Parts: sequence; structure tokens; C-alpha cells
Amino acid sequence: MKRKKPWGGRFEAETHGQVEAFTASIHFDQRLAPHDIAGSIAHARMLQKCGILSKAEVDAIVAGLEEILKEIERGEFRTDPALEDIHMHIERRLVEKIGDIGGKLHTARSRNDQVALDLRLYLREAIGKIRDQIRSLQEALVAEAEVHLGTVMPGYTHLQRAQPILLAHHLLAYFEMFQRDRDRFADCLTRVNVLPLGAGALAGTTLPIDRAYVAKLLNFPKVAANSVDAVADRDFAVEFLAGCAVLAMHVSRLAEELTLWASAEFGFIELPDAFATGSSMMPQKKNPDVAELARGKAGRVYGSLLALLTVLKGLPLSYNRDLQEDKEPVFDAVDTIRQTLDVLPPMLKAIKFRPERMRAAAAEGFLNATDLAEYLVTKGVPFREAHETVGRIVRECLESGQRLEDVPLQRLRHFSRAFDADVPKYISLEACIERRRSAGGTSSRLVGEAIRQAKKTLRIP
Ligand code: ARG
Repeated sequence: MKRKKPWGGRFEAETHGQVEAFTASIHFDQRLAPHDIAGSIAHARMLQKCGILSKAEVDAIVAGLEEILKEIERGEFRTDPALEDIHMHIERRLVEKIGDIGGKLHTARSRNDQVALDLRLYLREAIGKIRDQIRSLQEALVAEAEVHLGTVMPGYTHLQRAQPILLAHHLLAYFEMFQRDRDRFADCLTRVNVLPLGAGALAGTTLPIDRAYVAKLLNFPKVAANSVDAVADRDFAVEFLAGCAVLAMHVSRLAEELTLWASAEFGFIELPDAFATGSSMMPQKKNPDVAELARGKAGRVYGSLLALLTVLKGLPLSYNRDLQEDKEPVFDAVDTIRQTLDVLPPMLKAIKFRPERMRAAAAEGFLNATDLAEYLVTKGVPFREAHETVGRIVRECLESGQRLEDVPLQRLRHFSRAFDADVPKYISLEACIERRRSAGGTSSRLVGEAIRQAKKTLRIP
């Protein structure tokens, strides 16, 4: 059955079937429905307040819209590509339900400002949910950090063992990264939270509307200042996707470390069976697929950001149909991020860290060499000279298979007269960690304080 288009007045011929299929967005923009209805209800109430529609008309419109929302929630709403998008679907259903009055809803409004509003409402909600999920991940990290305040591990640079650190310190590095992500989304929200409705197609409207009133009803602190910008702008969605991309990058770094740590080569963690998979061919395998997928998801999130940036590049003002391509990247990023953030906290909780393996790795590889050089510095040796001296001791130890703390004092004094009997104690793993008391360092006192600070940030008692 062919139905008349909203623009039917000017058109003689019907739309080609392929064009309807090609231009339709209903298969993905139907998720905007609750926001579209919320926006329409606010718009209708404003039209009443401004004397453009009567109370009876608005009552009918609002009741109709609320019924449609219920139909959608019950899964009874039927879609048809001929009706293009969610806005036209809801309007058509409203007219079906309440008759011609339904046609008054679109007064002083265009789909151009309407769709911009819907996407902002959708993102506002998504940002809230994502920020809560990041918070849960941070909570899981802080909980592990608390358990492992006494666990020593090798800290790495260049993926080479560098200096001993506390596992808690390493985990709290991720706490900081995810805190920046939460802050970034909160900042992005200030740009999302601007009301575009009332811009009309692009130039505003001749009717006496009250945009501030709509902003108040929908809880927008700001009204878009320029109607052309209001319908053309998708910066807020770009910022959102950029925030998702950075977050996905952080997740992928964590996932990569978990993947490495689960390998026999590291052996720093044991993956819980519930969060690992086996091989269909190799009976011995236990694979970190969840971590690997969490690492891999960054690719598609970056893709979403690039897709939207590319849609916007060189796009003339104001609204262009290209902008319909904003939604799928945004939805896919939201789904991907939310799914990933769902699975990570329970996995972290279930991971078994292996402190003895971490400690053994920290004890091998001269991770206390810097401390031995700094020992000499405390005895007045210039750091460059101390570095050179310890370098030569390390070279000798590599040949003899000794650790620095095992080199007899007599031998040490052959390299420098500044060495004394207190050397082994000075370069023990614990001593190396506890002396790192510079702000932000890995001493257990500072890390304990950082845990308290983190809990304060998360408002955990
Ligand atoms: N489906 C469209 C979108 O997502 C809605 C706006 C259409 N506006 C128009 N003038 N064709 O952007």
C-alpha cells in the first residue's frame, strides 16, 4: 500500500521503492523513540503555553503520544520503510490514533531540529550510563588494589623489567585513566546539553514559540544560540565518540596487560574458567578471549569516530541528509562500550593474581640497580659516575649469575670505596619500594593514601 508522504503536496510521482529502502533510517533510529516522544510532549506543551494550540488539542496529542510509547515498549509498533524514520512513524501513528489534530504537533518544528534534539537526549542518557559503568570498573580496580597493597611486581618500561612497584600502584594507574574518561564524558555533556529545538528547518520560525520553556521542560541548561548551527552541529557527537575512543584505548591497554599476564611467560594471573575459553583442537589451551575482544573492540570504536568526522568534513551548512549517517556510528560505539564495560568488572574480581610469581619476576633482572646507584649518590658520588659504576657491577653479575644484593662487600668496594655493609638492606625489594616517597610514587604509604583518595572520589566508605 502506498501512503502519501508528508511532502506529498508538491510531488506528482511516488517514491521509487529502492529510494525508500536506501533513504530509510527506521531500522536503526527506532531506538530514539522514547526521546522523540519526550521531545514532542515538551514541544506540544510549549505550543499550548504560547497559545498556538488549545489545551484540548495538546491533551489529545500528549495522551496519544503516551499510548504510542506504550505500544513501542510492548513491541507492538509496526515499522515501514516507506515512512522513512522514527519521527514520521510516530507522527503517522498519532494521526491514526487521534485524527487530524495529530497533524498539529509538527507546528513550528522540522525534523532537522527534531532529530538533533533526539540524538542529544539519547546521548545524555547514554553518557550517564557509561559514566556509571566506568565507575563500577574503577571500584573493581580499587578493591583489587586494596587486597594487593603488599604485592610487589616488576614495573616495566619498553616492556623490560625496570623497577619494583606495588601491584596496587599499577592498578591505580588504570583508576586514574578511567577517572579522566569519566571527567571527559562529564565535560562532553555540557556541549550535549544544549537545546536545538525551535531552530526549525534552519532559520527559526515565524510563530511565537518559547524555546526557553522547552529547555526547562526537558532540563536543558542552554538553548542553541544560532538556528543554522543548531541543525548543522554534530560536534557533541564527535566529542562523545572521541571520549569513547580514548576510553576504548584505555580498556585495550588493560586488556592487553591481562592477556600478557595470563601467558605462561608472565604467569602473573590465572584467568577464571568462567572468563576464559578453550580451544577446539588443543586440549591444554585456556584462552583469554574476553580480554582479547576487549582489546580488539577499540578498532570499531575508532572506526565510529572516523566515520562521523568524515561525514562532517566539508559538509556545507546547515542540515544535509548526510547527517543521518551520524546515528549508526554513535549507536554502535554506545553498544560496544557498554557491553565491554559490563564484562570487565566481574572478570577483574574473578582473576587470581599470583603474588609469588610477580615477586619472583621483580627479584630477577637487577630492578634495584637504580637504587644501588642512588646509594652511591647518598655517599656523595655524582649520579653519572654512580650509574657507570653500577653498570659495570651489573655486567659482572650477568657473567657470574649473581644478584646485586649477593655481591660480597669486598667485591663491591673494588668498584667503589663508597660501598658499605648496609648495601643489601638498602637494595632489598621492600626498601626500593618504600623509599619511593616522592609525590605519586609507589611507597606503600603513598599508595595506601592513593587508595583512600580513590575511594573518596568514588564516594566509597
Ligand atoms: N532521518 C533524518 C536524520 O536522521 C531525519 C531528518 C530528515 N530531514 C530531512 N529534511 N530529510 O537525519
